[in-house]
Amino acid sequence: MSLIHKKRYLSANVVEMIVEAPDIAATRKAGQFVVIMTDERGERIPLTIVESDVAAGTVTIIFQIVGKTTTCLADMNPGDELYTVLGPLGRPTEIEKFGTTVCVGGGVGIGVAYPIAKALREAGNRVVSIIGARTKDILILEDALGAISDRLITATDDGSYGVKGFVSDVLQELIDSGERIDRVFAVGPVPMMKVVCDVTRPAGIPTVVSLNPIMVDATGMCGACRVAVGNETKLACVDGPEFDGHQVDFELLTTRLRMYYREEKEAMEQFRCHCDGK
Ligand SMILES: Cc1cc2nc3c(=O)[nH]c(=O)nc-3n(C[C@H](O)[C@H](O)[C@H](O)COP(=O)(O)OP(=O)(O)OC[C@H]3O[C@@H](n4cnc5c(N)ncnc54)[C@H](O)[C@@H]3O)c2cc1C
Ligand code: FES
Repeated sequence: MSLIHKKRYLSANVVEMIVEAPDIAATRKAGQFVVIMTDERGERIPLTIVESDVAAGTVTIIFQIVGKTTTCLADMNPGDELYTVLGPLGRPTEIEKFGTTVCVGGGVGIGVAYPIAKALREAGNRVVSIIGARTKDILILEDALGAISDRLITATDDGSYGVKGFVSDVLQELIDSGERIDRVFAVGPVPMMKVVCDVTRPAGIPTVVSLNPIMVDATGMCGACRVAVGNETKLACVDGPEFDGHQVDFELLTTRLRMYYREEKEAMEQFRCHCDGK
């Protein structure tokens, strides 16, 4: 059992939670994730570890409310206990002194990009962060990213804040301006990561993406999270979740993410009808 210490809404449907997990807090590295079960009969969902506080024995997660389990999780409050928090899982981000790195985060992916940007900065890299959302209201973590980046550029699809356009447009402009970029890290919706890779490929900039396939056991046993990278099949839970974006088959990832759409919709409908919110 894991006690929830704090909860706050970062936007209408994105929640930040600080939960007790002292062993995970002490050992986790940037890029790793936990698997959470809200209750004994609940689904296991993977969520990135955004931050940890070793002294307090806590980890921070940020999640978007998209379906049954994230709705259940958002309904929980400080003082409630999660059934399990398992981790740290996945391979940590490969952090080196690359030079100038650009961290691109879209939507709730900004929360996943944050620990990567922070670790890159701590390793002595110059960090440019480009963060974007559909509108100003749902842009998260601007201050946190600003505090650990050498330069922060914000963008919104509708132009309600920052540059009008997509994060990939901002990255393209940066490349076109002649700025030297040694490595790009991109996290966000699959189409966004694909377009970022399309932008960096012709420029020859190595690009790492953090993939979010559906996971079941998250220990490499079930094969649910398999992704195609180059000519190989990889398991995102144990080989990833970060991969060379120029090698990822994004079409297959998109198809596999939609695989249980009907079941997910039914689960949410049943949850709305029969559940009291827990
Ligand atoms: C390694 C990893 C780290 C992740 N980190 C985060 C994070 O830090 N914050 C966060 O908000 N989410 C994160 N996700 C995605 C998160 O696990 C899913 O959003 C969650 O499992 C949805 O559960 P649900 O029961 O609420 O929704 P479901 O009922 O399972 O699905 C509802 C809707 O969300 C879509 N969906 C389901 N699973 C995923 C997925 N894996 N990625 C994208 N869309 C999905 C479905 O297609 C459906 O449209 C991560 C995924 C992985 C694999
Ligand atoms: S989630 Fe089962 S192998 Fe990765």
